[in-house]
Amino acid sequence: MKIINYKGVIDRYKKYLPITERTPVISLNEGNTPLIYASYLSKLMGRGFAVYLKYEGLNPTGSFKDRGMTVAISKALEEGSKVVMCASTGNTSASAAAYAAKAGLKCVVLIPKGAIALGKLSQALIHGALVLAVEGNFDTALNLVREITRQYPITLVNSLNPYRIEGQKTASFEICDVLGNAPDFQIIPVGNAGNITSYWKGYKEYKELGKIKRLPKMLGFQAEGAAPIVKGHPIKTPKTIATAIRIGNPASWQQAERARDESGGLIDTVTDREILSAYKLLAAKEGLFVEPASAASVAGLLKLSRCGYFRKSHNTQHTIHNKKIVCILTGHGLKDPERTIKTIKSPKVIKPNIKAILKEIGD
Ligand code: F0G
Repeated sequence: MKIINYKGVIDRYKKYLPITERTPVISLNEGNTPLIYASYLSKLMGRGFAVYLKYEGLNPTGSFKDRGMTVAISKALEEGSKVVMCASTGNTSASAAAYAAKAGLKCVVLIPKGAIALGKLSQALIHGALVLAVEGNFDTALNLVREITRQYPITLVNSLNPYRIEGQKTASFEICDVLGNAPDFQIIPVGNAGNITSYWKGYKEYKELGKIKRLPKMLGFQAEGAAPIVKGHPIKTPKTIATAIRIGNPASWQQAERARDESGGLIDTVTDREILSAYKLLAAKEGLFVEPASAASVAGLLKLSRCGYFRKSHNTQHTIHNKKIVCILTGHGLKDPERTIKTIKSPKVIKPNIKAILKEIGD
């Protein structure tokens, strides 16, 4: 048996990343996440379509952020930085804290007070970051981080840091390497808009290198109460149960619009109800536990399918054949156990005897 010694996205995709021999690589063996064929969703879509799920929750800290963080932290170390800083709805802070711990860097994170999921908060704390809860939302926290990192010798590791975008583009490389081409459509949740920017950059680079023959249509989804790009203006008080994407003024707004327009795709909204319904469906039918923000991509798939988008965007003269749709599942369900418990019925309490158990199991 061939044993592959996988060592993370920098090692695998070094030649497409801004890495030199002098870069001290800080890696937790991130990336190489599975692209899972979604049998239930594919069936739901009907003949001619195959749906795949890129399960980014299997990264070392449980979200896609690790792909960008390995590059951002390695470069920060190379450039002699001692302190890194980010604002976060949770996952960026978890990832920054872990990679900074491994690199021996101090990590400072600003989170919106009371608005990040418990799993993510636990991660930032256990990895030893200085966690400060700001009385304000993510956008306020990010503005503060931008200001501080401009004035002081502290490295910003939000996706405004171009190394984050570079690292995150490796997810599109992986998808293409598995499928042998780009998918026809890619569906992705949009918050601060760094990830849609990264994927699009990755696809374009692979196309230019001749590794793929086509580019996918990029389909982004924001939560209805936090949809500045769709509404066309910043949202002062963004609202959604999907706390990861509760963002009213995305840093990479224009790049997201460019990905949408250049690819002939769209950015649309899904309601919290649609997000929760996709969240439950993924767990119950596909066996995948994701956090609510991640379910926005599948909620988007179902919304577009209902309105006939995929069939409409096809040349009607030919029968639909082998169309591939990839939904990005950005973070693990264990990040936000409180939401799960609120969404699903609690276990029933029973007497400690077999009869009581059999009665519950039924026929
Ligand atoms: N899904 C999850 C699980 C996220 O944590 C995020 C962003 C997104 C989707 C959206 O990605 O911002 O690149 O458009 N989380 C950031 C954070 C904002 O601070 O952890 P995006």
